[in-house]
Amino acid sequence: MTLHRAAGGLRILRYTLPERTIHWLAALTYCYVLLTGLAFYTPHLYWLATLLGGPPTSRFWHPWIGLLFFLAVLWMLRTWIADMRITSVDRAWGRAIDHYIRNEDEALPPVDRFNLGQKYFFWVMLWGGALLLISGAVLWFPERIPWGLRGIRYAAILLHVAAALLTIGAFIIHVYMGTAMVRGGFTSIIRGEVSPAWAKAHHRLWYERVTGR
Ligand code: HEM
Repeated sequence: MTLHRAAGGLRILRYTLPERTIHWLAALTYCYVLLTGLAFYTPHLYWLATLLGGPPTSRFWHPWIGLLFFLAVLWMLRTWIADMRITSVDRAWGRAIDHYIRNEDEALPPVDRFNLGQKYFFWVMLWGGALLLISGAVLWFPERIPWGLRGIRYAAILLHVAAALLTIGAFIIHVYMGTAMVRGGFTSIIRGEVSPAWAKAHHRLWYERVTGR
């Protein structure tokens, strides 16, 4: 049920248990590939691989866990595709972004389940993840690329690093927004629920749609 009464008052279901499970699978797998990837990227961070079970172990699991991360994001796509489409409502919200920056949320046009920033984040992780997987496949089995086509290997290295940097930037903003900026957001991805006041303040169209109020 979307709306129910709990000890602290009325609550609205924002994330179901399967949604939260897949979110945390994506988060954990991303953190693992991020840390092992940083270890391979620079000798200054090589010690990270030692902490994570040793360099050969990290090298073995990095591509497999990366694949698992991408599958988790594909699952998100299947579940949230309707919620992630960018609409005219989002474009209006984007044009009023100045109010968001100045903390004048009441002056922003109301949005549905996710705002434009959340949608952009999702698409960056999906397409960034796809690029990481494609370029990563070349680096996973480099011996399969004939020496004459070694340009593909060099391109894959560049693409892998560029896509990783793109997702890292998005990830840092996502974690900061989810934990420090938007109070109540973090509890929602842990417990699944938000208060009607939170839903009305941050996602009014979604609030009206799911509660019928
Ligand atoms: C430790 C890392 C992470 C933390 C602390 C975190 C936190 C959160 C929080 C608090 C929300 C709820 C936001 C809301 O409904 O207002 C959320 C939603 C979401 N998370 Fe994460 N997350 C993490 C990693 C990731 C990763 C790696 C992905 C990769 C795809 C991801 C994808 C999403 C998506 C698509 C949503 C729904 C839309 C959005 O709020 O952006 N998260 N996360």
